[in-house]
Amino acid sequence: MEKYDELLKFTSKYGQQHLLKYWPELDEEGRDRLYSSIKSIDFDKSFKAYSGDSREASSEFSLSDVSPIEVIEKPDESAELGKKYYEKGIEVIKKGGVIAVTMAGGQGSRLGHEGPKGTFDMGLPTHKSLFELQVDQLSSIHENTGAYVHLYIMTSEINHNQTVEFFEANGYFGYPKDKISFFCQNMIPVFDRNGNMMLSAKDKVVTAADGNGGIFSALESGGVFSSEDGKKAAFIYISQIDNCLAELCDPIFIGCAALTGKSCLTKTLMKAGPDEKAGVYCVKNGRPCVVEYTEVPKDMAELKDSNGEFVFGDVNAGIYVFKKSVLEHASNRGLPYHKYVKKTERLDENGKPFKPEVPDCIKLEMFLFDIFEYIDDVTAFRIKREDEFAPIKNATGVDSPATARNLYYRKFRIPMGKIAELDGDEMTRVVWQKIKDIVLEPYIRLNTEYYDLSITNRDATDDKVTVEAANAIKRLKVGVKCATITPNAQRLEEYKLKKLWRSPNATLREILDGTVFRAPVIADGIKPLVSGWKKPIVIARHAYGDVYAAKETAVKKGSKVCISVTDPDGTVTNIPVHDFERSSGIVSGMHNEDDSIRSFARSCMSFSLSCGLDLWFSSKDTVSKTYDHRFKDIFEEVFENEYRKSFEDKGITYFYTLIDDAVARVVRSEGGFVWACKNYDGDVFSDMLAACFGSLSMMTSVLVSPDGCFEYEAAHGTIPKHYKKYLAGEPTSTNPIATLFAWTGALRKRGELDGNVFLIDFADRTERATLKLVGEGRMTGDLVRLSSCENKVTLDLDGFLGEIAKHIYD
Ligand code: UD1
Repeated sequence: MEKYDELLKFTSKYGQQHLLKYWPELDEEGRDRLYSSIKSIDFDKSFKAYSGDSREASSEFSLSDVSPIEVIEKPDESAELGKKYYEKGIEVIKKGGVIAVTMAGGQGSRLGHEGPKGTFDMGLPTHKSLFELQVDQLSSIHENTGAYVHLYIMTSEINHNQTVEFFEANGYFGYPKDKISFFCQNMIPVFDRNGNMMLSAKDKVVTAADGNGGIFSALESGGVFSSEDGKKAAFIYISQIDNCLAELCDPIFIGCAALTGKSCLTKTLMKAGPDEKAGVYCVKNGRPCVVEYTEVPKDMAELKDSNGEFVFGDVNAGIYVFKKSVLEHASNRGLPYHKYVKKTERLDENGKPFKPEVPDCIKLEMFLFDIFEYIDDVTAFRIKREDEFAPIKNATGVDSPATARNLYYRKFRIPMGKIAELDGDEMTRVVWQKIKDIVLEPYIRLNTEYYDLSITNRDATDDKVTVEAANAIKRLKVGVKCATITPNAQRLEEYKLKKLWRSPNATLREILDGTVFRAPVIADGIKPLVSGWKKPIVIARHAYGDVYAAKETAVKKGSKVCISVTDPDGTVTNIPVHDFERSSGIVSGMHNEDDSIRSFARSCMSFSLSCGLDLWFSSKDTVSKTYDHRFKDIFEEVFENEYRKSFEDKGITYFYTLIDDAVARVVRSEGGFVWACKNYDGDVFSDMLAACFGSLSMMTSVLVSPDGCFEYEAAHGTIPKHYKKYLAGEPTSTNPIATLFAWTGALRKRGELDGNVFLIDFADRTERATLKLVGEGRMTGDLVRLSSCENKVTLDLDGFLGEIAKHIYD
């Protein structure tokens, strides 16, 4: 009973004997645990903190006490001063003059994450945790300087073991184990509304970490100063685990501290709005200080100057560099405690676990920046928000993983391998540039070989640019193409062309000898006109020969036309085509090649296999007994010899029928197959399918060559009607989906070929964000007419793309 008596005497002194309520129920070990739990608490200090020294929210601040802070702007690395700081910073790092401290004493509970916040996966395709992202930064500093900066991680009782285990389990993310250490901050009791301590279990008092101001005593008690690297260091770099963009050991920051001799530099940034949850900088009693957002008076938060700028416009980024000498005795300072009303799990009066619905307990926290009161020379160092600040505090909404991912990608921008970019004409050229500016460039370091296939440039280069572009696709394996004008007589006149240049697509298809697959984009709320269609119908168009490569001529009345064939041995056969005795006319000579038809058949069959869809093929072999019949025969031969077995294994079928029968069947089907068509049929029916599935602006297209080259484009034309409106300065509600999906298709393919998971992830997310937007009823004018969504909103082109860009990383 000795222990009980000791505890009773001790707790009674503070009126806390209720903490012993369950003593009789506890076994020996439980009693030991309760004993240690109570004895680990500094009751004097805790009650003083609760009643006396702790600050009451905001009461101490009034506008008359404070003035705006002066800041120095972080210089750019390329500017002279930036270079000077950078070089000095690197010198300090190389000498072991700085150690890094990450404050990670909290759990990720607000994020809905069980475990230390640093173990949180913010949703990058690599699934790296916040801890790993920080260690990666130090690894690149090592690559750059040859020095391993020692990282000290501040944990607390609630997460220390889990944190250490996490690093152990992950091999310290490749960083030397002896360069990562952990130290634990103190805990302080949580009080109920009546100022009493509570039990979280029958053998444990409710405590919580004492706030990030607890760092100063923890640095000392945790042996950081006395460690080998701690002794060597002249500077301590402190940052928070929750900012995924915080630059650990930013050399410019360190160099500035070293060259200016300041005791402390603290990073600030322009506040996003009066309600931003970030501490506000000001000067009080002649010294810089931070008023935490929980305590800042409304008038101070909202005050603006005559230019409409916030007077107290700099907020706390939570990144600091201190001279070690000023911190070594900082723990003696005794920072004030701030009070918060919070929800706290505990035992109720019947000893049952209790989870309150509303905040009803008093939590005490010290704030790191309160140390500024005791330090001369604290200087605010203003950084650019987009470069270094992406905090993760909440599960959704502001400062959430979604906003952080967005900022993360905007900063780092995904690098990529090169693709061929084929620009085009009229409105789609405008859409093209906007897609790049609004959706792609902010997140990707676009790497393209650019070919201008506008009608004017094709004319100026005698169409050589199209051939060069095709060769680029062959070389780079991936291309993306904007819609282009195929000139006719009217365009010849309109653009004053040298001649009627060929369709660029025909040239590309010919050079790549590929097959075009067109698939509709299916979005919620956009019902196909053919109500029976439930699944996409992918149409495969043979991209070689026939009417697109035909030689044509006008023929005078009285002429005779025949096809003349010269065999390799010189034998000439003339096949009469028509005798124009009655009238003048026209004639066309078409061709195709067995090899091209064969590779078409192979592409279609491989494509069907790859997506598990039945394959249909149609032609008019009953009328065209040699020409179309050859197609039918080659398809059958390829299927029987090369694909039958795989089709059977996959449970899919190959089916041939006449084109007119195919059309009837397609209309009555529910979709979900690949329909292989000859060149002209494919041209016509892909537009018909696009219109029936929604709109031509929702039809994507990819040209696949037998040697594995991919060219992505939208199936539609250059939208001249919208272009006229655009030229007249009017906003247009042009649908960019097919063109955007051409880009995402090309980026995904590039990503697949290069193993670039970030690029694949970007493509998938962009498509999902687009479809989600349409599904929610926010869309361009063409779709509004087709959508069955309630509360539809028409967005103009910029607005639509802007919304997509905003939500890619949701
Ligand atoms: C903090 C700052 C705020 C700043 C904002 C920027 C403080 C008190 N507040 O607000 O001024 O504008 O970040 O994002 O610094 N931590 C511990 N142990 C604790 C408490 C916190 O290690 O006992 C760590 C957290 O893991 C986190 C950091 O300190 O890394 C700040 O967390 P928190 O105290 O929750 O402050 P915020 O509200 O995020």
